[in-house]
Amino acid sequence: MHSTATMASLPSLFDLTGQRALVTGAASGLGLAIAEALLEAGAEVVLSDSDAPALDAEVQRLRKTYTKVQQRVIDVSDGAEVDRHLDVIAAEGPIDCVFANAGMSAGRGFLAEQGRLENVDPAAWEKVLQVNLTGVLTTLRAASRHMKPRGQGRIIVTSSIAGLRSEAHSGYAYVASKAAVNNVVRQAAIELAPFNILVNAIAPGPFATGINGGRLRLPESAERMRTYIPLGRIAQPHEIQGLALLLASPASSYMTGAIIPIDGGASAR
Ligand SMILES: NC(=O)c1ccc[n+]([C@@H]2O[C@H](COP(=O)([O-])OP(=O)(O)OC[C@H]3O[C@@H](n4cnc5c(N)ncnc54)[C@H](O)[C@@H]3O)[C@@H](O)[C@H]2O)c1
Repeated sequence: MHSTATMASLPSLFDLTGQRALVTGAASGLGLAIAEALLEAGAEVVLSDSDAPALDAEVQRLRKTYTKVQQRVIDVSDGAEVDRHLDVIAAEGPIDCVFANAGMSAGRGFLAEQGRLENVDPAAWEKVLQVNLTGVLTTLRAASRHMKPRGQGRIIVTSSIAGLRSEAHSGYAYVASKAAVNNVVRQAAIELAPFNILVNAIAPGPFATGINGGRLRLPESAERMRTYIPLGRIAQPHEIQGLALLLASPASSYMTGAIIPIDGGASAR
């Protein structure tokens, strides 16, 4: 008979007490919701973002409820800066979990004139890839460097369903960066498996956050998504929390290299 004797109690499967986590892009939207979930589960959390005032405002708010909150201004498009900050965070204590979440939009997809192939701006293309792809790679690299000697760690990347298939509403640089990130996640998961470092990606569909100037918070976006999303609505940021907690916690001890959609059914079409 298969035994469940070694299974932890259900609440402890999702308990992060004593763990330390870093979340990039945590001043807003999904990163902020993820950081709050980790704090609620008992982790010490370093929130980081390139937007210093927004980060400070959110961290001050969180400090009213949680004691184990830190902040660090990090621009993930600067690899040397990522390395330097990760070294400092690791010197202060072990890093158990890193969410490489920071990302940016590439504007409209080809349904709009400015999103068509002939209008792809090379400088804007480079900038999006620098943040969404190179930023993830450098975060992964720095995180794994500190996790390897400990023989444990979790790295969770915020990708997108726009990296799983074509996505008419998203710009070329965005879909390219997220598709590339998915394979970086798979590749790193295989390389890091012998070190017991689990690497997974969350692939959200539309969430009402600040991305792309907060366009997904507008009523006309909600209307458009009603037919596009099987569940018929745009998600709220807190709806990312269950999956984020699963991937950061003991509950997902046998999961690595997975790209998990959380999209109201959109990618199932
Ligand atoms: N909201 C959605 O519908 C959606 C869907 C799929 C994927 N995503 C992904 O989710 C992640 C979070 O986006 P969001 O929707 O919460 O948007 P958001 O704009 O609300 O939050 C993104 C945060 O990242 C920060 N950031 C941007 N560039 C940065 C950089 N170079 N270094 C550090 N921080 C930086 C921003 O300041 C902001 O606080 C992104 O990777 C995005 O691509 C979002």
